[in-house]
Amino acid sequence: MSEHVTVVDHPLVQHKLTQMRVKDTPTADFRRLLREIAHLLAYEVMRDLPLEQTRIETPMEPMTAPQIEGKKLVLVSILRAGNGLLDGVLDLVPQARVGHIGLYRDPETLVAVEYYLKVPSDIEDRLVIVVDPMLATANSASAALTRLKEVGARNLKFLCLLAAPEGIETLSREHPDVPIFTASIDDRLDDHGYIRPGLGDAGDRMFGTR
Ligand code: PRP
Ligand code: URA
Repeated sequence: MSEHVTVVDHPLVQHKLTQMRVKDTPTADFRRLLREIAHLLAYEVMRDLPLEQTRIETPMEPMTAPQIEGKKLVLVSILRAGNGLLDGVLDLVPQARVGHIGLYRDPETLVAVEYYLKVPSDIEDRLVIVVDPMLATANSASAALTRLKEVGARNLKFLCLLAAPEGIETLSREHPDVPIFTASIDDRLDDHGYIRPGLGDAGDRMFGTR
């Protein structure tokens, strides 16, 4: 596995992911599990955030202690299902700026179609973490990264829950500068562009649609 891809195989992540895969897991549980896994994935994605030293006073005495450097992160959610991961990551970094990119996959061609974009204006100098639970063909993730680079983003990471090997290969080829973090790389894509064994349609399972 290239060092460009990190599979977060912590037992807590794997256990919760198994519960999410189960077809009878209700919508409310699915959402809660995604939020909980997002906490654990965020921990890995943000492992190398720069720290700075600050002076504080404990109840005992003054000390110099580390804090995360001032520049605010940008989290970008690929709608709709990205919002489930976004909520969990935001629990850990509530001060982060948030952008949204609306993309849906054309069911015939699987090409990603953009319908919305709103990101913070000063994205150039910030770390941008793009979140979407599913990396299948990678058409959506690749289109999102291309668009974010067009509006100035230069330091990007991609965070998902499940990836297909085909999606990893495509995204690594089209955006070799963007590290990928995932909880699992599944077996394959099927003829309809679904991840197998996967967990089905993440957006539908999160929002109870079909
Ligand atoms: C899903 C998922 C990703 C995309 C992944 O979204 O949330 O955005 O498919 O597939 P890809 O790697 O082949 O592009 P979908 O298009 O179903 O839209 P939704 O989130 O609005 O349901
Ligand atoms: N989008 C999903 O929600 N699930 C898949 O398996 C593939 C794309």
